[in-house]
Amino acid sequence: MGTSAEAAELSKLPEGRPAAAFPLGLPVLLVRRGGEVYALENRCAHMGCPLAAGKLDGYVLQCPCHDWRFDIRDGKFLDAPELAVKIYAAEIKDGKVFVRLP
Ligand code: FES
Repeated sequence: MGTSAEAAELSKLPEGRPAAAFPLGLPVLLVRRGGEVYALENRCAHMGCPLAAGKLDGYVLQCPCHDWRFDIRDGKFLDAPELAVKIYAAEIKDGKVFVRLP
């Protein structure tokens, strides 16, 4: 379900460095990690800071504003997993990253 939208060229996504993208104008954060690409909403679940400016350690992304930490695989806030940022399914096709948006 949803719409598949092109978000980035895979070659422009460096391993382990969060990158902002705007498929269909939506703020999405892409992270290439271990042969996979993860896509999350680029807005912190706390106060909406852009997570693309955060620091990545393994699969844990730390928000640049108040240091909340999220798992990029499921979007969950590590200290309270009932809070999370939205995640989107990402797919690599013909060297491009597509994300499935609602
Ligand atoms: S806005 Fe991200 S931790 Fe506060």
